[in-house]
Amino acid sequence: MTTEEGPVRVAVLVSGGGTNLQTLLDALQNSPVARVVRVISSRPGAGALERARRAGVTTTVLANPADPNELLVALRDAQLVVLAGYLKLVPPVVVAQFRGRMINIHPALLPDFGGPGMYGHHVHAAVLASGARESGATVHFVDEAFDRGDIIAQEKVRVEPADTPETLAARVLEAEHRLLPRVVLDLARRM
Ligand code: GRF
Repeated sequence: MTTEEGPVRVAVLVSGGGTNLQTLLDALQNSPVARVVRVISSRPGAGALERARRAGVTTTVLANPADPNELLVALRDAQLVVLAGYLKLVPPVVVAQFRGRMINIHPALLPDFGGPGMYGHHVHAAVLASGARESGATVHFVDEAFDRGDIIAQEKVRVEPADTPETLAARVLEAEHRLLPRVVLDLARRM
């Protein structure tokens, strides 16, 4: 995809509070490389929508996240799609249209601790229960299954003996916030 027309146009899919979206908005502000052009939420109450509005970014709330046509319309002007705290499965026809240009951030070291139901608190509780000495964040390409696409980059964090799911989540989230903007800018430079 050539992008003589300026920064790569990034759409961000969200469901929650949007701290990953916020780090992207901050990192891409005034960037000549990439720009968040739309934030698309699977639910109307997502705090991420308020972050988008504050940044002056167009928002869309999906009436039915399982409807491929609605999502394709919302993604019509996107060149790169980032799932940031997005909790719905992307319909296969949308995955196919954006293959190699749709990425997700997951709060664990895939391929471990991923898949259906592995989100938020559940991920970190499973990591602690496993006795793993490290965890971290993964950015991967999106395919038809949750958390299964090719891994692009990871950042590891230590698991501390006194960790709770909450303290581990906070340490992993800091890694996510470092990793995601770096990967988005790297990918955008190569588009
Ligand atoms: C993050 O841990 C992210 O990896 C996961 O959802 C959590 C919340 O993300 N997918 P955000 O604060 O809504 O960006």
